[in-house]
Amino acid sequence: MKTVKMKVLVMNCSPVRNGAAEIVNIVTACLEKKHDVKNICIDDYDIKFCKGCRKCHTTAKCVQKDDVNRIIEQYEWADVIISVSPLYWADIPGQFKAFIDRCTPWCNTHEPHAKISSGRVIGNNDIITIDLSPQAGNIWGDYARTIIMENGKVVEDIGLIENLEWKRGLQMEEKLHTELLRFATKETTFEKLYYHMNEFIVENGFVNLDFMGNLGHSIVKTKGDRIYIEKENKTKLGDVKYFTFEPHIAFPDSKYGYKKENIYYFDEAGLIEL
Ligand SMILES: Cc1cc2nc3c(=O)[nH]c(=O)nc-3n(C[C@H](O)[C@H](O)[C@H](O)COP(=O)(O)O)c2cc1C
Repeated sequence: MKTVKMKVLVMNCSPVRNGAAEIVNIVTACLEKKHDVKNICIDDYDIKFCKGCRKCHTTAKCVQKDDVNRIIEQYEWADVIISVSPLYWADIPGQFKAFIDRCTPWCNTHEPHAKISSGRVIGNNDIITIDLSPQAGNIWGDYARTIIMENGKVVEDIGLIENLEWKRGLQMEEKLHTELLRFATKETTFEKLYYHMNEFIVENGFVNLDFMGNLGHSIVKTKGDRIYIEKENKTKLGDVKYFTFEPHIAFPDSKYGYKKENIYYFDEAGLIEL
């Protein structure tokens, strides 16, 4: 399967370079074959504790001078960030928590907040992907769409999209969901669906942008219990109550990606979109 080369930052959030770092080494070795990987260790940075003064809520800047901005520079560089952390007293090490507290200037719960440079205003002709996990009480949802703006307006009908590349991207998403409904039965395993859909994506001239080539997951209350549409997963689709299908695709080497996510379940008649 062809994947798009990404910039991956692996941050060792342990103060011990040769401790949890073993996992960092494994992750790095695994990813380096296909991606640009940079490693950093939290212990190389001077991170002062957040003083809780809330000045950053109005200035988007911290009053303290230390190395937090140096870490954020690495975050800016990366397309993907992987944080590796051991457990210290059933939680993350204090250094990592101190860093998270110091990320408050970049938190969008207040205005103004500092932005990393990829943040920009939506243009009159633009492509935007949203990926939501709405929750009502105990019930979780999952929903993603790629939205096309042309001439300052959202184009709701795919057939009316003027940019041919974007149009073909969204048409391919429709085709993938149609193929899912045609192919999947209660007996299909998550692995079988993984291979079938990844082949289908390539046959149609696209690449799967997901880091691991995954395509969706079961809907559960706790994220850790999710079953993914991934390699070596022999669980049958019919064994879970609901699952999402969310292929994230692009034309090879294009800067534009597309996503459509729906939740599916089986009833007597077969697979149904929720
Ligand atoms: C201060 C401290 C607290 C720890 N607390 C826990 C814990 O609550 N649960 C656990 O499973 N392991 C705990 N451990 C063990 C570490 O998670 C484990 O040894 C890990 O591999 C250490 O990684 P490091 O060498 O990068 O620090 C603790 C270790 C330290 C030093």
